[in-house]
Order: sequence, then C-alpha cells, then structure tokens
Amino acid sequence: MDLKDEKKISRRTFLDYALGGSIVVSALAVLGSIFTYVYPSRKEGGAEKAEKVEAGPVGDLPVGKAKPVVYQGKNVMLMHVQAGFFAVDMKCTHLGCMVEWETDSQTLKCPCHAAFFDYQGKVISGPAPKPLPLYKVEVSKDMIYITGLA
Ligand code: FES
Repeated sequence: MDLKDEKKISRRTFLDYALGGSIVVSALAVLGSIFTYVYPSRKEGGAEKAEKVEAGPVGDLPVGKAKPVVYQGKNVMLMHVQAGFFAVDMKCTHLGCMVEWETDSQTLKCPCHAAFFDYQGKVISGPAPKPLPLYKVEVSKDMIYITGLA
C-alpha cells in the first residue's frame, strides 16, 4: 500500500461518518426544541420595558377612526372613539390573526373566525378566550403617544 492509498477513506467509513454526523445534528435540533419549550424567550409574553412612542398627530385621527401602528415590534390598533384614544394589540387571542377596525360598529373584528372586541379589547362575541391586551395612550401638545401596557 502506498501513501496515496492511505489518505483515501473507504465508502463504508465515509457512510459511518455521515450517519454519525446526521444523528448528532438531529439530536441537537431535538434538544434545542426542548430547551426553547422549557425556557421560552422572555420577550414572548413577558413584561417589556415601557417606552413612550409617538403614534401620530391628533388631527390625523378623527373620532370614529382607527389606524394600525407598531409599538415595540407589535402591531397595535390605535382608535379614537367618543370616550377618547385607545390602543390594543391587534393579535387575536384565539389563533393569532390580525383584527381589523369596523368603523360602522366601532368594534374590532377578527377576519378568521369572527371574534369581536370592543375598543378596550374586551371580547364581545366569538371564540376568542381572552381580551386583547390594552395599551396606555397619552395626548400631549396635539401628539398621541403609546406608553406601555395598561
Ligand atoms: S383567530 Fe381570531 S377568531 Fe380565530
């Protein structure tokens, strides 16, 4: 056997390494999933630091209107109703679809399974198990701000 032959690996050895490597990668993927399940990210559902974020001028949102805004990476519906300004998380508490503002009824409707919420996020009807998270809203010098979860 010369030096050139010693550097070659047999087909059987190669397949052994490939199989062993794929088993290790699969095991790491399973362990990673278990770890993520047992120790979920603090951001998911955890308390985030409140931050005052500008949501637009008062004049751009007349009574009866609403507009989606982003607050700390979350889609939030900012609404102006007779009672004042309100903001709720747009992610439906049923299966996570984005709710929409219904101008005529002044309610939030989930297009997926027809859950309805009032402007404070309370469930009116439908399969949603809990209210939409409500955010605090401030108005200062004709500017609307979202300042954190209520
Ligand atoms: S996801 Fe909203 S009602 Fe089902």
